[in-house]
Amino acid sequence: MFQDSRPLSAVLTSPEQATPLSVDPEVLKSMGIYGFDSVDPRSRSFNLIRSKIIELHSELNWRTFGVVSATPQVGKSFISANLAASLSRNPKYQTYLLDLDLRRGSVSALCGIENGSMRQFLEESPEVTHPEAYRFDHQRLVILPTRPKLTASAELLAGARAQALFQAMRASGERDLFIVDLPPVFANDDAAVVMEKLDGYILVAEEGKTNVREVKDATAQLGTEKLAGVILNKYRGGMINEGYGIGKYYTAGY
Ligand SMILES: Nc1ncnc2c1ncn2[C@@H]1O[C@H](COP(=O)(O)OP(=O)(O)O)[C@@H](O)[C@H]1O
Ligand SMILES: [Mg+2]
Repeated sequence: MFQDSRPLSAVLTSPEQATPLSVDPEVLKSMGIYGFDSVDPRSRSFNLIRSKIIELHSELNWRTFGVVSATPQVGKSFISANLAASLSRNPKYQTYLLDLDLRRGSVSALCGIENGSMRQFLEESPEVTHPEAYRFDHQRLVILPTRPKLTASAELLAGARAQALFQAMRASGERDLFIVDLPPVFANDDAAVVMEKLDGYILVAEEGKTNVREVKDATAQLGTEKLAGVILNKYRGGMINEGYGIGKYYTAGY
């Protein structure tokens, strides 16, 4: 059981206390993180999704967002990281990026972070009282990565420490926004278990990989009322284009 008497806020590391990482912005881009640079045309697609998130925050007070998909390898982690980077440029908000894809988490690799203790935290490891948090120099984004491992992930995500984490997110500041990278909805129960605790989700689909039936089944499973938007990632090996679509009813014409 999670009997730690630390205050809730201690589960989430503040931006000031996050471990700073000095990474050249150009290196970040070479790794596929464009969202920090508003001038880079490759960051533009994420601004649209960012606007939708901010709209949902101001209209419905939604602050916690899962990023899910029906099928694997459609760009969830890529979109989570870039969306979080894009959101973090808005000084009105404090953005957190959490990796809860415990088995295949790739935020650490994507961001060039070698550590990350989300899983050990959820496993109630006595020496890990909070998930390690990182921040790139001169950026406001707080990143909570995990080191991927085949684990009883659904149990961990339903466990006491996961509840403490979700509670800390809910109890956090009104301007704190959370982007949570998740596994595909049909891989196991993980996405559904976590989505019970979050405000909304972004469904990532890829043309040719995800069909209409799968999109409908995924939204039926997670609840259409929590659907923040559907992103059609038209990634075609090696090239990023601006072919993102987002809209609550995008699936209708999909
Ligand atoms: N729009 C895109 N532009 C460039 N690379 C992309 C894009 N979408 C996905 N990728 C790359 O494709 C691979 C799979 O994406 P990833 O985000 O790991 O998928 P998922 O998290 O859904 O399994 C990664 O190497 C990622 O960087
Ligand atoms: Mg992923």
